[in-house]
Amino acid sequence: MIGRTAGKRISITGLGCHVPERVLSNDELAKLVDTSDEWIVERTGIRERRIAAEDEALTDICLPAARRALEMAGAEPSSIDLLIVATVTPDMSFPSSAALLADQLGMPDAAAYDLSAGCTGFVYAIAQAHGMLAAGLARRALVVGADVLSKILDWTDRSTLVLFGDGAGAVVLEEVADGGFLGFELGADGGGGANLWLPGSGSRKFEEPDRYVKMNGREVFKFATRVMVSSADAILDECGKTVEDVDVYVPHQANVRIIDHAARKLGVPQEKTVINVDRYGNTSSGSIPLALADAADDGRLEPGKLVLLTGMGAGLTWGSALIEWTHETTGAAA
Ligand code: UT7
Repeated sequence: MIGRTAGKRISITGLGCHVPERVLSNDELAKLVDTSDEWIVERTGIRERRIAAEDEALTDICLPAARRALEMAGAEPSSIDLLIVATVTPDMSFPSSAALLADQLGMPDAAAYDLSAGCTGFVYAIAQAHGMLAAGLARRALVVGADVLSKILDWTDRSTLVLFGDGAGAVVLEEVADGGFLGFELGADGGGGANLWLPGSGSRKFEEPDRYVKMNGREVFKFATRVMVSSADAILDECGKTVEDVDVYVPHQANVRIIDHAARKLGVPQEKTVINVDRYGNTSSGSIPLALADAADDGRLEPGKLVLLTGMGAGLTWGSALIEWTHETTGAAA
């Protein structure tokens, strides 16, 4: 799917994130599996990640992120009429994490549901919220991208264990006076799905079901380096922009080698590329909003700046969004 937005201008007016307190270093992982800080840093760029506590579930880390986003937008929870949580690690299959979160936040009028698109979930979710807002079905949306992948990792499998971390990011979307989303490009290739999957987690019977993430790292790497470039190129072209127009590039934080490859191929200079995979690892659906929050903290997200978001992940899926940053709201949903 690819499209340029039309009609109402919709933008991000609030942004918040949250990560669990526990920091897990590469050296600590090297005590659990046959790996080393040197290997992990050289092959992935990851130095540490955050890991949820035993009794900490997805909605526990979503809640503070959501509250921060609402606060920045100056939005009462009760004014939210759409809540989407992008995740592959909900508290449970049902009720949805979004429904639980809406209850905790006090959003009696919100349609609330979870969205599953792997690490691309956040980009899918903002595209969907944009569509609902632009069509007039909703007036103010809260979109959360979050995962606690540590709960579904095999802690004896070095090929996946070293890559992932836990984290949550949230944004408020609503109509604005200027700027806003320019377009989205989203895609999926289920044929490659078995390169990153959780067999045995649903209704299909497998001979060897598993409670843990399985991944063919090399295949996902090849896929990632291809789609991170093709998706970004496609959305820029669709919106009549060039890579030189991009002020801030926010790629999915899976592996610094994937990010470097994509940035080089696209022609985005290092200083425009947001990287925090060294501190958080791959937080799946949390990755892009966490990186956006970092860019905001750095003062890079000034009104008028053109921001390119590109993600990829399980599905296999990919997606890009192009947004002209603004904080000015029309007060439409106040
Ligand atoms: O959101 C999407 C999520 N997934 C991804 O983004 C994953 C994409 N893939 C990758 O990032 C990379 O493929 C990995 C980081 C997973 C692996 O890096 P690589 O450079 O592709 O390594 P490799 O799989 O080719 O393995 C090289 C060697 C192997 O040993 P031999 O066969 O050369 O003796 C592995 O067994 O490294 C070994 N290895 C490790 N060594 C130490 C694999 N994992 C580890 C480890 N520590 N954790």
